[in-house]
Amino acid sequence: MSTVPVSQQSDSSTTASPSSRRDFLKTASIAGAATGMSASFLQRSVHAQGTDIIKVGLVGAGGRGTGAAKDAMDADSGCRLTAIAEITDDRLDGAKKNLKRSLGDRFAVPDDQCFSGWDAMQRLLETDINVVLLATPPGFRPMQMEAAVAAGKHVFCEKPVAVDPVGGRRVMAASETAKAKGLSVVSGLCWRYDYGVKATIEKILSGAIGDIISIQENYLAGTLWIREPKDWWSPMHTQVMNWLYYRWLSGDHIVEQFIHSLDKSLWLHNDTPPVLCYGLGGRQVRTETEYGDIYDHFYVVYQWADGTRTYAATRQMPGCYNETEDYVFGTKGTARVLANEITGENPWKFTGEKPSMYYLEHVALMKSIREGTPINNGDYMCKSTLMAIMGREAAYSGEVIRWDDIKDSKMSLVPDTLAWGDAPAVEIHQPGSYSFNQRA
Ligand SMILES: NC(=O)c1ccc[n+]([C@@H]2O[C@H](COP(=O)([O-])OP(=O)(O)OC[C@H]3O[C@@H](n4cnc5c(N)ncnc54)[C@H](O)[C@@H]3O)[C@@H](O)[C@H]2O)c1
Repeated sequence: MSTVPVSQQSDSSTTASPSSRRDFLKTASIAGAATGMSASFLQRSVHAQGTDIIKVGLVGAGGRGTGAAKDAMDADSGCRLTAIAEITDDRLDGAKKNLKRSLGDRFAVPDDQCFSGWDAMQRLLETDINVVLLATPPGFRPMQMEAAVAAGKHVFCEKPVAVDPVGGRRVMAASETAKAKGLSVVSGLCWRYDYGVKATIEKILSGAIGDIISIQENYLAGTLWIREPKDWWSPMHTQVMNWLYYRWLSGDHIVEQFIHSLDKSLWLHNDTPPVLCYGLGGRQVRTETEYGDIYDHFYVVYQWADGTRTYAATRQMPGCYNETEDYVFGTKGTARVLANEITGENPWKFTGEKPSMYYLEHVALMKSIREGTPINNGDYMCKSTLMAIMGREAAYSGEVIRWDDIKDSKMSLVPDTLAWGDAPAVEIHQPGSYSFNQRA
């Protein structure tokens, strides 16, 4: 869980007293009128007339969702958590206790705004929340994004946004609708909001290492959590609780976790996606049935139209060498993005303040709502999700996968009907016999 960063203390818009915040809203309304922004946008945004409270609803109150709710409350002293949606009663009860403890008087959720079950999010969207935080397993995100935007809510959308190409396109369309409606969509691809990473990538894009020749993405890490199944859990319940290990829920770890690195490669190419990729991977250590149908390592080569390549390696195994870093090799030097450092002809190191990037995402979101200047991260969050899916399919199949094929693919992994009981079949793909191109 993130701590309140130093910069919050010096950001007057986030620490303003109630009265000065009201002045700020008044000013924002006047500024909105001056720029031609519709008053209805502001009304929809924060119900600014008569109250300066931003009401937040949380969907998926697990590890990240609980952290995101805290970040949202810390980002703007006028934020209150007013609704929660969880999948089961026991998860909801636990979440309420945790959130009450972590948010104190910013927890303002009446009992009749705590929802559980498969339709919990739909009922949460019927409340008067202004913003919804989407932090469930990613397989559910496309339907949630569509519903949130249809309900006129601003969205914080955790990464990845989908597990298959059809889902990626649904989120892209919903993000476009959000743009047309003047709603903010902020992505959980948090490195885009990190001051040091942002400064390093801006330096690279302005020529500090010359022309980019290649990028090496390493996300070599240990294993993640697993939830011990209870004897009363159905197969579906077991999969949803241990969603990391099921492709239809997580997209596999290349999509769920490695997306953070792949997104930086996309960013370094000005958000232009690669034309093709090929790769390899497998399931070498996590071979037991509790690890579902995902791999434990991937290596993918992405190729761009300008001839540059990204060599991307990720592993989730215990007891191995770990490193997470983005190396960018150019004609005049080398950058290490996470170290915020450039060596070569123009040596440089970021030395500025580094508030929590998780907090900064929410500062940007809340500021956009108060000022009536919507943010839309839809384009890159969908492209990097599709780029990760492309790499997964290359490794699963052993085939060359083209962006155009993945972009137009009809692959859809999430069941049309969601209910407790039986779960989707577990199918471990084998390169050489599984074909993406034949299924696509
Ligand atoms: N940006 C980051 O650095 C970062 C870090 C961790 C996780 N994440 C992302 O956040 C999301 C959640 O991850 P997590 O680690 O918090 O997982 P988690 O399992 O701890 O939390 C997910 C929660 O969603 C609930 N849930 C499941 N299905 C639901 C449904 N249909 N409706 C409502 N609630 C539902 C679960 O009960 C659980 O409490 C994932 O997309 C993950 O990739 C992002």
